Amino acid sequence: MSQKPEDLFKNIISHSKEYGFIFQSSEIYDGLSAVYDYGQLGAELKKNIRDYWWKAMVQLHENIVGIDAAIFMHPTTWKASGHVDAFNDPLIDNKDSKKRYRADVLIEDHVAKIEDKIKKEVEKAAKRFENFDETMFRATNGRVKEYQDKIDAINLRFKTALNDNNLEEVKQIIVDLEIVCPISGSRNWTDVRQFNLMFSTSMGSVSEDANTIYLRPETAQGIFVNYLNVQKTGRMKIPFGIAQTGKAFRNEIVARQFIFRMREFEQMEMQFFVKPGTEMEWYEYWKKARLNWHLSLGMGKEKYRYHDHLKLAHYANAACDIEHEFPFGFKELEGIHSRTDFDLKQHEQFSGKKLQYFDPELNQSYVPYVVETSVGLDRLFLSILSSALKEEVLEGGETRTLLSLPPALAPYKAAVFPLIKRDGLPELAEKIMNQLKFDYNITYDEKDAVGRRYRRQDAIGTPYCITVDHQSLEDNTVTVRHRDSMQQDRIRIEDLNAFLDERVSLKSLLKSIV
Ligand code: GAP
Repeated sequence: MSQKPEDLFKNIISHSKEYGFIFQSSEIYDGLSAVYDYGQLGAELKKNIRDYWWKAMVQLHENIVGIDAAIFMHPTTWKASGHVDAFNDPLIDNKDSKKRYRADVLIEDHVAKIEDKIKKEVEKAAKRFENFDETMFRATNGRVKEYQDKIDAINLRFKTALNDNNLEEVKQIIVDLEIVCPISGSRNWTDVRQFNLMFSTSMGSVSEDANTIYLRPETAQGIFVNYLNVQKTGRMKIPFGIAQTGKAFRNEIVARQFIFRMREFEQMEMQFFVKPGTEMEWYEYWKKARLNWHLSLGMGKEKYRYHDHLKLAHYANAACDIEHEFPFGFKELEGIHSRTDFDLKQHEQFSGKKLQYFDPELNQSYVPYVVETSVGLDRLFLSILSSALKEEVLEGGETRTLLSLPPALAPYKAAVFPLIKRDGLPELAEKIMNQLKFDYNITYDEKDAVGRRYRRQDAIGTPYCITVDHQSLEDNTVTVRHRDSMQQDRIRIEDLNAFLDERVSLKSLLKSIV
């Protein structure tokens, strides 16, 4: 049963809370805006996603190693990286509602609305014509072309304004497009100003000696400042990569959409160091490799697309996003950036230390170029949850809530049930738990009828339910019920580990991407 996107999004938020995936931070004090806690199931799912990323990056690539750098870094790091001067968002306030918005987001949302109109025209035509050719339709339909021209004109004007850092023009675009505040409905806007996104605090016990330091806004800089340490101690040869997962902090102006945009979040980043001049090859390589990784999760090819950046960040010579179709539309999931030698050169300059690579083949030293892959773990979590959560109508009209997570990522790999709470069935179920628990996170449930227990596991994404019944006592077999098909098989208890290993280990996912 397909749900309206806005209903689906509300369901995801309430489902996350109801089943212990995600809670608002400090909820008993009415929460903290754009900060969230992961509950008992959320922490498991998040860990499994992180493990899959780490293994795909580090374990499957002989030339990629992982590190774990500190969140606090020397304050000069952020001067060198450009974050102190240029890590800004253009913000604008509505004078009537007193609400603050990101000017670029207001414009992008306006463009997304026009894109929706095109999508509707395409869908209408697809229903009308047999052998419908979308490319041909887009090229020839007058109304679609008119919308597309509008989008192209806005994008061009906006890109020029951003590149020129022309904030007056950014405001003028908002005025010309007649964008209204969603709260007050008015067009009474302030000027556009730049707002730095870094959180700062101070280190040192005495205020006169205290140094302003920042909570890192990206994990990447922890990799750059350790480039030489890792290259020398790991005897790494170019091309090679350094991966890291960890918390990042940004004082986001527009903090909405649940865990899509948070003030404290987790990134999974990899910096790939290459010979200057080869960066575009590697950029294309990582674009493909990362999309493949997302596709391996089985959420459907149509849920992903590339989006080239209109405005390149201060460090990049090429950049694109892998976008995912969230319930509120296609949005950035992961960034692939060709960062040139900007960061290492800046750190050389600010630290006075050489950060070069001696290339034995060329017999010369150079500062490597870098291609970066950067994905937000929380955003990835939301993309998986929103694609997996479904309401299914079963035969007979009953509905079930199904969380069809990739089995290898599910918080519990299996649930063990005794059919009833006596006759030795709970004891055998416990033996099975003990047999499986060293390899997998397994849960046990003996409350309510089996049908209700199945529903509870369906809603949290457990791929298999193992039921112990009276026959089990006689022949050492159990019923294994499959989450998605609801089909049931009879399996020998001694074969359960092998059965699960084939279906729920990360191995199968990892094999699908090599
Ligand atoms: N080192 C490059 C970098 O940080 P970015 O595009 O700013 O690039 C990379 O961030 C990824 O981090 C994004 O694609 C997104 O998945 C995630 N991310 C960024 N800001 C976020 C936020 N406020 N909340 C959740 N995830 C965020």
